[in-house]
Amino acid sequence: MKVKAQNLACVILAAGKGTRMRSSLPKVMHKVMGKPMLMNVVDTTLTAHAKKIIVVTSPDMEAVRKQVTAAYHGKVFNAVQQKQLGTGDAVKAALNDLSGFSGNVIVLYGDTPLISQETILSMANVLDTSPKTAIAVLGMEIHAPNAYGRLVLDKKGNIERIVEVKDATEKEKKITWCNSGVMAIRAAILPKLLARLDNKNANGEFYLTDIVKHARSAKHDCSMYTTDPKELLGVNSRVELAIAESIAQNKMRQKVMESGVTLIDPETVYFSHDTQLGKDVIVHPHVVFGARVEVEENVEIRSFCHIEGAIIHKNATVGPFARIRPDSVIGESAHVGNFVEIKKTTLEKGAKVNHLSYIGDSHVGAKANIGAGTITCNYDGYNKYKTEIGAGAFIGSNTALVAPVKIGDGAIIAAGSVITKDVAADSLSIARSRQEDKKGWAKKFKEKK
Ligand code: UD1
Ligand code: CA
Repeated sequence: MKVKAQNLACVILAAGKGTRMRSSLPKVMHKVMGKPMLMNVVDTTLTAHAKKIIVVTSPDMEAVRKQVTAAYHGKVFNAVQQKQLGTGDAVKAALNDLSGFSGNVIVLYGDTPLISQETILSMANVLDTSPKTAIAVLGMEIHAPNAYGRLVLDKKGNIERIVEVKDATEKEKKITWCNSGVMAIRAAILPKLLARLDNKNANGEFYLTDIVKHARSAKHDCSMYTTDPKELLGVNSRVELAIAESIAQNKMRQKVMESGVTLIDPETVYFSHDTQLGKDVIVHPHVVFGARVEVEENVEIRSFCHIEGAIIHKNATVGPFARIRPDSVIGESAHVGNFVEIKKTTLEKGAKVNHLSYIGDSHVGAKANIGAGTITCNYDGYNKYKTEIGAGAFIGSNTALVAPVKIGDGAIIAAGSVITKDVAADSLSIARSRQEDKKGWAKKFKEKK
């Protein structure tokens, strides 16, 4: 979908304490699909082409502000809410950065990470297409007991007010329309509405949700918009974090299958937010993709692999039981087999590392064959060193390559060698003690016993 620049500002609330997470990390920095919840929301507002994006944090969240600045190069404003006096007070902290802005403001919560671009755009559209509406609230219908605020609707379906569960009567608690927390408000009236908030409620907080009743008493319409409740999950605890993760994973699984990837048992494959898979990739059960993985077409990834920070070129096969660590490139038609660990290594086209190996800080030339149990000894306890293996080289089983070391193109290394010096192209290198055979020795030995 092509999205035009919007006359839209987004305020993302992230200053809350998040006590229910029981964590020393701020709640909004807990990750869904490997990306902090807050950044999930910021990225979505960016794809909706919001003109202004303001993240509200608390004074002690300096580290979060630094991360926001670093990740978005000043495209996102940081506002500080001095004391956590409630969601209404948090929006007040963003007013400074909103001064002079006259479009629609959408308030989002940093703990509601799954909201989609489409929903944000539709919310803005509600205000654009109905001039009488001053506020649009994103609601969701839930038929089970829950802690969300309740939307009190009038006969026409307009929202009269929002009541928090702690303040609700028994009758109000039975209302099934709930507040997702997302609201679109005309910028022109926002400061006035916020100024009218008080904290006379069960939590002693300034609730953003109360702007609805103030807007109604000023004769504005407040309407409800709704979308798939799966987008609107608010994460307050680790249990809800896991639910958000599972919703996001399922969505991703669906998306990759629709794009032409086979997942034999989708529920057992875990993606990162940035995983890229080409057409006709086959992923067997129980595979985990960490951050920054790009897989080209026709690659087969067999069961029980863990892959992060890697590019896997077309027609390669990986696994079962392979671990590919960051800064690795698996060349076209290369093979990485079982119990193989690859780190910061490039395997060129057609290279094979099929069994029980550790290849780190290395470059492996095209069509080289690395025998079972080969280890690159890349670390002396202080520094890391490079191993270079030439094109078409053959490394015998159980070889230790003590880096830094270079094996020339086409060289053969005898099995069981400990290679400490460079090996010239096309040479044979044997670096192990010579075998000695004593005829009849075993027989005599046994007879003596
Ligand atoms: C809020 C809504 C509730 C809604 C629910 C949806 C209010 C009063 N209630 O409740 O109607 O159903 O979200 O998930 O708005 N925050 C600040 N500063 C503060 C307090 C909170 O920035 O002083 C931020 C938090 O970091 C969080 C968001 O606002 O990202 C929501 O706060 P939270 O305390 O989780 O609100 P809920 O109790 O979930
Ligand atoms: Ca919440």
